[in-house]
Amino acid sequence: MTTAGIDLISFYTPQYFLDLKTLAEKRGVDYNKFSVGIGQEKMAIPPPDEDIVTMAASAAKPILDQTDPSEIELLLFGTESGVDQSKAAAMFAHGLLKLPTRCRAFELKEACYAGTAALQMAIPWAIRNPGKKALVLASDIARYDLGSPGEPTQGAGAIAMLVSANPRILAIDPESGLYASDVMDFWRPNYRDEAVVDGKYSMRVYIAALEEAWRQYHTLSGHGFADMARFCYHLPFTKMAEKAHARLAKTAGIKDLTPDDLEHQIGESLRYNRITGNTYAASLYEGLCSLLDNCTEDLAEKRLALFSYGSGCMGEFFSGVLQSDYKKHLYSAAHKNFLDNRTELTYQQYEDIFQLGCPTDGGDHTFAQYRTGPYRMKGISQHKRLYEALT
Ligand code: CAA
Repeated sequence: MTTAGIDLISFYTPQYFLDLKTLAEKRGVDYNKFSVGIGQEKMAIPPPDEDIVTMAASAAKPILDQTDPSEIELLLFGTESGVDQSKAAAMFAHGLLKLPTRCRAFELKEACYAGTAALQMAIPWAIRNPGKKALVLASDIARYDLGSPGEPTQGAGAIAMLVSANPRILAIDPESGLYASDVMDFWRPNYRDEAVVDGKYSMRVYIAALEEAWRQYHTLSGHGFADMARFCYHLPFTKMAEKAHARLAKTAGIKDLTPDDLEHQIGESLRYNRITGNTYAASLYEGLCSLLDNCTEDLAEKRLALFSYGSGCMGEFFSGVLQSDYKKHLYSAAHKNFLDNRTELTYQQYEDIFQLGCPTDGGDHTFAQYRTGPYRMKGISQHKRLYEALT
């Protein structure tokens, strides 16, 4: 049977961050609440000339550098933080990445689930189109009100995945457990830049979605908890994954999950999110990159479990098998390089960037140049976003 899945995967996060020690001090909160209670240390902050499009294009650049663009006939962009009510972020990315006109390109939305929606749409397409590639982008900027409980979970980042038949990294299994339910746990009306959230309720719904999706997945696939070499979760903050995993183990009949088991089964997948914050649609796949980059054990031919969650809400439990040479096709060194070389912001710089907003007056605005990836937004003119490639 032809398999399909992730052929290449690349992650990008902005070059600036706020240390949560700085935020804790400013808000008069014990830092341990952030570092231990929610499991976060830093949050990535995009500068004014970076948005979801430039982040996604920056994530995709290493993939495009080694792929014939004419093979890419499907471009899917999953995001919660779209930049236009009408034009898909996929179109802006299509232009920046110089993809061919023979391409089906559009944007998908269901909060943090949109990246998985895109991946799962791309898989049957890849099986039907052998030799062709789909480019799946997931990119988000997580914003909550200043001083709100959600503030320390903010973050930003993007994932690019090349999806094809006979993939080099992860062949996705056909079975999925699905959970859709009309709830108001986290949402963002069109007139708001910051999400509105019922935090505790959102955590309960996440767990309910996980349990139901797991039961279905287990019944459909016959795979059990012990068949999984590692587990990757949607990561609004790392403690959420720890709570979710403990609950999943219990649901699956594992009575004695120790802290060492927890660390072994999910620890490596949490490293990046701890220092970037929530990347919404990208976060599950940021966790996958974190696992693949940081795991010293060879997981070739082993099965990974993945749980995707988008508020509102949609949950999906699925799995994939790592391919024999997957390690040769990772961008681990590039990820390490930019994560190790980020610039720390002061609290005031963070708040200034937060308050800046995008000009909405229809005038001509040129943006100062900050540290970015290979693409930046150089300005806005007549309500049009203007992007440029730096290399
Ligand atoms: N030392 C150590 N731990 C401490 C502490 C201290 N000094 N002070 C508090 N804590 C612990 C608390 O005991 C608590 O732990 P438990 O949950 O294990 O009890 C934890 O720190 C958090 O403390 P609070 O419950 O008081 O936190 P809060 O009410 O201020 O906010 C939150 C927590 C609700 C998650 C908030 O950050 C939030 O609203 N986040 C956004 C919503 C979110 O991420 N939801 C997740 C599910 S929805 C989803 O996944 C989609 C998405 O991406 C948004």
